[in-house]
This record gives sequence, structure tokens and C-alpha cells, in this order.
Amino acid sequence: MNTYIERLVSKIRPETRITVLTGAGVSAASGVPTFRGPDGLWRKYRPESLATPEAFQRDPKLVWEWYDWRRQTLVTKRPNRAHEVLAAWGERYPNFILITQNVDGLHERAGSQNVIRFHGSIWEVLCWNNCPLSPGRWWDETVPFPEIPPKCPHCNGLIRPGVVWFGEGIDPEVMRLSIEALDCDVFFTIGTSSLVYPAASLVHEAKRRGAFTVEINIEATPASGLLDFALQGPAEEVLERVERVILMGRRKDQNPHTPSP
Ligand code: OAD
Repeated sequence: MNTYIERLVSKIRPETRITVLTGAGVSAASGVPTFRGPDGLWRKYRPESLATPEAFQRDPKLVWEWYDWRRQTLVTKRPNRAHEVLAAWGERYPNFILITQNVDGLHERAGSQNVIRFHGSIWEVLCWNNCPLSPGRWWDETVPFPEIPPKCPHCNGLIRPGVVWFGEGIDPEVMRLSIEALDCDVFFTIGTSSLVYPAASLVHEAKRRGAFTVEINIEATPASGLLDFALQGPAEEVLERVERVILMGRRKDQNPHTPSP
């Protein structure tokens, strides 16, 4: 893997346009369950009962109990090294863009700014009736909600979680920003099964546009064979190794006459 990492790092310069797409695997080391792994959420729960507009219409209490439980679990979790390295890249590289499918907010808690939240956020809510008094969608970090299902403070109707459910489209502005981010030099797809569209199509479109494409995942995915590099390993470890090689190179650039040990 070392040679691959060195070849990858040789493509990263201060001005390089880097776009990263992350999925649930990036939060796995923080103790957040993935969706399709051995203890994945969709192995225990049926998405049709919990993550569709029809499910919410049918039983808002059940759906909110599940999201409220996830929110209660998430407040106990901390960002891991993968989130931290990506936050450091956001600070260091002016042309760095982070798109995440994760709704957990851990990238932001690690310090990442301007994260494109492809599937929304579990910390956002919106009025189910789109009442004209509410501000569209808003942040609400109440944990746990004193009343389930929680009510819209503006019309006293229902509110819903600000996540994208099955059968729903991606927010057009989020889609526009994500597509714009595909014009990059290096595109990373990290910790995602590459099974859920349209997120899974982003890496292929980036490659078509000329980006060098890299996957980091503990196992092969449908995308692996189609990309330039597939680095197999936990995101928190692989990103840490990439970061170390980057930092070693920077030290050499700053002290070109220091003999290597
Ligand atoms: P999945 O659960 O489908 O896939 C998680 C991926 O992470 C798998 O490919 C694992 O091999 C990999 N993985 C696990 N631990 C890892 C680690 N430590 N380092 C690197 N990779 C690791 O999750 P997503 O691809 O994110 O949608 O799922 C996509 C969407 O499906 C989610 O955003 C969610 C779900 O339904 C919504 O919530 C709208």
C-alpha cells in the first residue's frame, strides 16, 4: 500500500482541487453503525417502515422514536481520525470540497466547514406541512425530544427529520454544488458501499471529467474496479497514513538540505 500512498500523495499540491465523498464507514470507528455492514441499521430495521415519506405519514411516532434514539446515540460519539484528517485538509487546501452522505454531523464536529450534506442532517428538522411561518428547515439539537412526535413551534403540526428519505430527491442546490465539485483533480470516495444513487454516481462522473479517483474502504465495492486506486483498509488508518506522507513531504520541501535519516 505504501507505494500507492506515495503515488497518490505526489498528486497532491497546495493548489490541487480535491473533492471527497464520505459514507457511513467514515463514522464506524466512532461507534456509529453503518447501514449495510454486519451490524448495519438496514440489517435490523426495514427502511420502508422508518425512512420513507409514506412511513412517516402512516406512523410519525414510530419514525420519530427511531430518529430520536439515533440522535441520543450520536451525542455520545466523537469524531475519529478520519474526520480529523479531512478537517485538516479543509484548512490546508483552498480547493478542498467535502461531500458527505452521513447525517450524523461528525465532520462538522471535527472542524470541517461548508460540508455539502448530500442526504441532509439528522440535526435539522422541517415542518411536515411546510407551514408558511416556519423558516424552511432549521437546526434543532434537542436530545431527547420531550414529546414524540415533536411539534412545529410555528403551526403546532408535525415536524420531520431533515434527512433525505428513500423515494425523495436530493435538494437541488446540494446537487448543483456536488456536480460543480466533480471538476477536480483528485476525487476520493471513502467508507461508502457505492450502492445508493445518485451519490454513487459522483465518483464515476468525476473520473469521466478527468479526476484521479481513489477509493478507501475495508472491502471491495462495485466501484473499486473502475477507479484509479482502491486502497483497502479502515478510513481512519489509511487517511492517517496518507496524512503522514503528506506532512513528511512538506517538511522536506521546507528544509530541502536536511539529510534524510
Ligand atoms: P453503507 O452501510 O451502505 O456502507 C458502508 C461502507 O463503509 C461499506 O462499504 C463498508 O465496507 C465500509 N466501511 C465500514 N467500516 C469502515 C472503515 N472503518 N473504513 C472504511 N470503510 C469502512 O453506508 P453508505 O454507503 O454511507 O441514506 O450508505 C449510503 C446511504 O444509504 C446512507 O447515506 C443512507 C443509507 O440508506 C440515507 O440516510 C438517506
